[in-house]
Amino acid sequence: MPCPTLHGPPLKARDVFKHGSLLSENYWLPRVTSQQQSTTTRLRGFVTAFADLLAATRDEQAILDSGSALLARLIATDDWLPEEFARPDPDRYQQYLLHCDSRERFSIVSFVWGPGQSTPIHDHSVWGLVGVLRGAEKVERFGRLPSGALAAESEELLHAGQVDAVSPRIGDIHRVTNGLADRPSVSIHVYGANIGAVERATYTPDGARKSFISGYANRVIPNFWDRSKQP
Ligand SMILES: [Fe+2]
Repeated sequence: MPCPTLHGPPLKARDVFKHGSLLSENYWLPRVTSQQQSTTTRLRGFVTAFADLLAATRDEQAILDSGSALLARLIATDDWLPEEFARPDPDRYQQYLLHCDSRERFSIVSFVWGPGQSTPIHDHSVWGLVGVLRGAEKVERFGRLPSGALAAESEELLHAGQVDAVSPRIGDIHRVTNGLADRPSVSIHVYGANIGAVERATYTPDGARKSFISGYANRVIPNFWDRSKQP
């Protein structure tokens, strides 16, 4: 079933993104003009398109496929994230809330790693999409052995513009490290819940599990709803 569209005739996803492996041909992307893609409207357009997608389907793979295409388009241009949500901290990586759906069906965060910073090995317990906006990120993915210990399964260096996915269904345990030694890296994540309120876990390599609820680093979120100075 096609997604509702926002602006003008829809573009079929495969016509927008050449690498069709990310995409489901059953869904449509809204057509967004260059004028509408201003700094302050990019995130609002993404939020609306993602809400449309979730209204059209609850199928996780369809959400990951079409959501990846939407996220790839959001991170294709690095001119819209306010500086306060891209600010590294000298002591640890930061997770800034950019938007949470009113029904907590999804949330959008920016992750900021300073040089040398890394997450612990952790899970998410819901689907998630990770898109690198700036810099690079090393992703190490882990699986569970019958003993309960963790086994490293793959490692990948994601560059700006690339999107990765996680979920309990496709693989949910990973560790993410800044891929740059001398600069911060920033990525935009979308999760299938209010991720800062979800009880999930960190792990040691032997599989020992420790529950945590991440919360967020920021007390205020971006205002992308003021249309008074926009078309
Ligand atoms: Fe993660």
